[in-house]
Amino acid sequence: MLVPLASVFLGICITLVRAKPASYAVWAADSAIKRGQGNGLSNGVPLVSYEHGEFQWALRLLYERDGNETYLDYIKTGANNIVFDNGTVHGSYAVTDYVLDPLRTGPTFLYLYNITGDSKWKKAADEFRGQLNSHPRTAQGQFWHKLIYFNQGWLDGIYMGEIFYAQYTHDIQPNNATAWDDITRQFQLMFQNTIQNATAPNNTHLMYHGYDFSHTAVWASPDRGHSPEFWDRALGWYMMALVDVLDIMPKTHPGFNVILDILQNLTPHVRDAADRTSGVWWLVITQPGRAGNYFESSGSAMFVYALLKAVRLGHVGDLDGSIVAAAKKAYGYMAQNWVIPNTNGTMSWNNTVVVGSLNLAGDYDYYISQPVDINDLKGLAAFVLASIEFEKL
Ligand SMILES: *[C@@H]1O[C@H](CO)[C@@H](O)[C@H](O)[C@H]1NC(C)=O
Ligand SMILES: *[C@@H]1O[C@H](CO)[C@@H](O)[C@H](O)[C@H]1NC(C)=O
Ligand SMILES: *[C@@H]1O[C@H](CO)[C@@H](O)[C@H](O)[C@H]1NC(C)=O
Ligand SMILES: *[C@@H]1O[C@H](CO)[C@@H](O)[C@H](O)[C@H]1NC(C)=O
Ligand SMILES: *[C@@H]1O[C@H](CO)[C@@H](O)[C@H](O)[C@H]1NC(C)=O
Ligand SMILES: *[C@@H]1O[C@H](CO)[C@@H](O)[C@H](O)[C@H]1NC(C)=O
Ligand SMILES: *[C@@H]1O[C@H](CO)[C@@H](O)[C@H](O)[C@H]1NC(C)=O
Ligand SMILES: *[C@@H]1O[C@H](CO)[C@@H](O)[C@H](O)[C@H]1NC(C)=O
Repeated sequence: MLVPLASVFLGICITLVRAKPASYAVWAADSAIKRGQGNGLSNGVPLVSYEHGEFQWALRLLYERDGNETYLDYIKTGANNIVFDNGTVHGSYAVTDYVLDPLRTGPTFLYLYNITGDSKWKKAADEFRGQLNSHPRTAQGQFWHKLIYFNQGWLDGIYMGEIFYAQYTHDIQPNNATAWDDITRQFQLMFQNTIQNATAPNNTHLMYHGYDFSHTAVWASPDRGHSPEFWDRALGWYMMALVDVLDIMPKTHPGFNVILDILQNLTPHVRDAADRTSGVWWLVITQPGRAGNYFESSGSAMFVYALLKAVRLGHVGDLDGSIVAAAKKAYGYMAQNWVIPNTNGTMSWNNTVVVGSLNLAGDYDYYISQPVDINDLKGLAAFVLASIEFEKL
């Protein structure tokens, strides 16, 4: 009888060992793929979706890391679902809607053009690039987040528009200095208009979610037009955009150092804004513990990705190791609390807020009243990205 008992015991040990995957990045990506997420379709209907673009970016990094063609094939399938053979983009996309969000799938087209040489992908990228040529802007030159959001710049839009804009310029028009200047200016204007500035009480040195250059939105502050709150995912998008665009922009262009300065400015403040006990970030970052606020998983994963990548590439110094330590602590919490192992071998990802928009009041009560979901791709893709960085440590 002792032998079977020992086998049972061994079996349990093996199960426990197996419960910790070799790579959370692979486990999370494979789980999303098994669920059919991020493949250019929504309920079977083509949809140009920024979160698919974000996930494809993560899959590309995994493909480049592990050489596993599964990820490249999935990227191709997803892009083929929203681009006709003649290069026309479809799936609820129209240039004249002037929305920055869909452009986040553009880097996928450019990547596929780069590795396949198929002109279909260049045509699709050209269509997106054409949008930017006539996209409405504030008097200062900031792209409006959407045509329907008159004169508004949102942090999210930098991740959606500028990574594509930069990748296009890098791949297709590397000597277009006007474009590099313009990309730099998008980051700079967003920073200047939304950063909590030195004279404000209890300055956090973080960025508000957005601003309205015309100061007419219900939420616009009378002095500078910024929105009232610090939403974790908005700043998460912006931080990811900073570290990603520095991979793409030529170091010889003066904009490189402008963007680098912004990253160096923000990084310690993002580190310091993490919750002391858990290590992760609150949904409304600057209101820890307030009723209704909670630890939010998409913004937290984005910060981990950005902090680790900024240090790894030497963009930000970390002499005392506190930035990496903060990211590691947050990552530990995420893997422990937000990764849910399923009995069928997949994992699920918890605690991602579904939306955060500036179309209503943009106040504290608005953010905390938005639904929280499981396996929301915006959060799950960010966790793949954070895991890729964590696994490089
Ligand atoms: C695996 O289990 C989870 C949790 O029960 C479920 O949501 C999912 O649909 C199952 N199948 C796959 C392929 O993930
Ligand atoms: C590639 O990834 C898929 C999904 O995780 C896996 O089933 C397959 O074994 C991997 N292939 C290789 C060559 O590692
Ligand atoms: C591209 O192909 C689609 C689908 O076949 C078609 O509807 C569209 O008119 C074509 N566009 C051009 C510019 O040929
Ligand atoms: C693809 O991208 C690499 C890396 O940026 C670059 O060196 C190469 O020239 C590109 N190839 C094409 C065909 O665009
Ligand atoms: C260079 O970029 C600018 C700014 O986006 C654009 O107006 C211009 O058309 C681009 N130049 C070329 C040759 O396409
Ligand atoms: C900083 O913010 C305060 C309060 O919001 C405002 O009065 C002041 O003009 C701002 N200063 C700068 C330099 O933007
Ligand atoms: C600033 O912080 C102090 C100490 O935490 C607090 O008592 C005070 O209410 C804060 N002021 C504002 C305007 O948030
Ligand atoms: C997801 O998180 C919520 C809130 O923290 C919790 O109530 C719920 O049980 C979690 N879901 C799963 C499947 O663990």
